[in-house]
Amino acid sequence: VDRRVLILGAAGQLGQALRAQWPAEDLLVPIYHSDCDIADPAQVGDLLRLLEPQLVVNCTAYHKVDEMEAQAERGFAVNALGPFYLAQGCAGRQIPLVHFSTDYVFGGNLSRFHPYRETDRTDPLNVYGASKAAGEQLVRLATPNHLIIRSTGLYGPPNRQGNFVRTMLRLAATGQTLKVVDDQLLTPTSCAALASQTMALLGAGAQGTFHATCQGACSWFEFAHAIFRLRGQKVDLRPQSSAELGARARRPAHSVLDNAHLGELGLDRMPDWQVALAAYLAEI
Ligand SMILES: NC(=O)c1ccc[n+]([C@@H]2O[C@H](COP(=O)([O-])OP(=O)(O)OC[C@H]3O[C@@H](n4cnc5c(N)ncnc54)[C@H](OP(=O)(O)O)[C@@H]3O)[C@@H](O)[C@H]2O)c1
Repeated sequence: VDRRVLILGAAGQLGQALRAQWPAEDLLVPIYHSDCDIADPAQVGDLLRLLEPQLVVNCTAYHKVDEMEAQAERGFAVNALGPFYLAQGCAGRQIPLVHFSTDYVFGGNLSRFHPYRETDRTDPLNVYGASKAAGEQLVRLATPNHLIIRSTGLYGPPNRQGNFVRTMLRLAATGQTLKVVDDQLLTPTSCAALASQTMALLGAGAQGTFHATCQGACSWFEFAHAIFRLRGQKVDLRPQSSAELGARARRPAHSVLDNAHLGELGLDRMPDWQVALAAYLAEI
């Protein structure tokens, strides 16, 4: 065994994708929500003390974006303080922490034509984004030995919360008309591709903050359209504006990320979003 690695959020979609690809040389210990509440510093402390890992990977998150507008305390406990407790524990043991974040740390509007680079200033529009931006910052404060990876529009193995692809397929099966917003751009990203990219970063001993999304961009409406096209499914799908949808939380209209830092290191192995989506749909 090379080292003992803890993956928190092991039942989440990214947690599962990482576990599926993790090299057999490591002793991988999946940590579930029921094993350790990341928002509880005593539980985080006990976890690190008892298991003595050499690497910690944090895939936990509370990311019900609309619900969280009225749950800021819980959002910050899970997404900001939890990662801080982990990062402090890792710093004390001089072991690295891998942590994941989101494009929602940015507030981009539609007149913005340039994808965000890692060095751009964060300016979140909602409580979720603010809690994730705070989490990143607390991780950076606590330990220089961190790898923070921001991604977008994740879909992967089944989790409790579901994802956009599975939701679209479920709704389409009811035969109803589907309305999907066409004024928010993103890059759909498969957890399998992100897991593979994470392995490449770890293999290279990378530290710091990285954007890692699939290549290209689309609106949520185009994302839905691609799902049904690749499935060969006929669905009554219509575009809708964010204003018409009237969600509780504001969302960035253009929060597409540039994998700039990966590119500079010659490590960008993220596939085109439609290629990754086709692979996922062929699998599920
Ligand atoms: N999903 C996206 O579209 C997206 C986009 C960009 C970035 N990200 C980021 O990517 C990472 C992985 O997301 P994901 O899509 O894999 O999420 P996910 O499938 O919802 O998994 C998150 C996991 O965290 C666990 N968890 C929640 N609160 C916890 C707590 N207090 N203590 C311990 N565990 C807790 C959840 O367990 P329970 O279900 O039992 O609560 C769940 O297993 C997160 O950092 C997220 O912010 C996600």
